[in-house]
Amino acid sequence: MVKLVKEEELEDELDVENIEGVGPTTRDKFYAAGIYDIKQILTFSPQDLVEILGISYDKAVEISNKARKKLTELGLMESTFSAASEVLKRRLTIDRITTGSNNLDSLLGGGIEVGALTEFYGEFGSGKTQICHTLCVTVQLPKEKKGLDAGAVYIDTENTFRPERIETIAKARGLNPENVLKRIFVGKVYNASHQELLTREIPNYIERENCRLVIVDSAMTHFRAEYVGRSMLSERQQKLNRYLHTLLRLAEIYKVAVVITNQVQAAPDVFFGDPTKASGGHVMAHASTYRIYLRKSGKNRIARIVDSPYHAEADAIFTLTDAGIGDPEENTKK
Ligand code: GTP
Ligand code: MG
Repeated sequence: MVKLVKEEELEDELDVENIEGVGPTTRDKFYAAGIYDIKQILTFSPQDLVEILGISYDKAVEISNKARKKLTELGLMESTFSAASEVLKRRLTIDRITTGSNNLDSLLGGGIEVGALTEFYGEFGSGKTQICHTLCVTVQLPKEKKGLDAGAVYIDTENTFRPERIETIAKARGLNPENVLKRIFVGKVYNASHQELLTREIPNYIERENCRLVIVDSAMTHFRAEYVGRSMLSERQQKLNRYLHTLLRLAEIYKVAVVITNQVQAAPDVFFGDPTKASGGHVMAHASTYRIYLRKSGKNRIARIVDSPYHAEADAIFTLTDAGIGDPEENTKK
């Protein structure tokens, strides 16, 4: 049964203390960890909850299940099977954010999708960080201009976030740069565990500041730097897997777009075609809903969508401009 609650009562209903079986002690542990509402709990796996709260695995599973039950009662989550026609109807109304390039938007079926994890990977200078900067601006555009009138959270692991670049992109798109900068929340992270910690705080920004875009540029840098060599590979992949699934749940539960970037590495076993592949192996490949491979082509960039659940493998050409990402002029002029 879906329980009808008024908008203003929803916040109270979502308090962690409303989960069946959560008493004052567990509730206080949640609060101490900065976790206040039920949605936030569901961004964690039971194993995460064990570590964050110091509770048993069984108790963590029980809390996860009860939290999910509560959300379905409140009508915030589907509880059972849906007819595919219903699923299609929901997909057609899914919110998207323009990348700034019509070509790239078309490749993606209309822009970056909320509720999904989109990965851009490619060599240095291929435009990954430029795409991230552009999206932080375009997400703020009104819906009729293919934005979501919302803010962005930016996790910067490589120290390449540049507010000055945001200013230029905002100006070029007719927005007030000062207002645009105020709606982007930047976290510079220093190591993998700091990255995990800051990521846990993202729900607060999503809810308080109406952010609908989460950027992690780049997702793997610290994992790669801290878990070096074959002996650490399986531990690294396990950590990375857990991290990416936290991001994926964030996208699904809060209906935000999560965009991550990733580097390429040489693939010496490839004899034909492009001898590079995305870092992170199968773990990365499976976590991302959409993967876009970027290549340089002179002044332009070529984006290819790979392994998509519903796009055919196809290419799009875009370019890097003062306004961030755009379509090459040759397209219209020649
Ligand atoms: P790594 O992080 O090093 O792996 O690369 P990346 O894929 O993030 O590359 P990035 O997005 O930083 O792209 C850099 C390219 O963007 C540069 O080669 C510039 O050509 C271009 N670029 C950066 N700023 C501007 C700008 O203000 N105007 C224009 N037109 N191009 C810019
Ligand atoms: Mg970059």
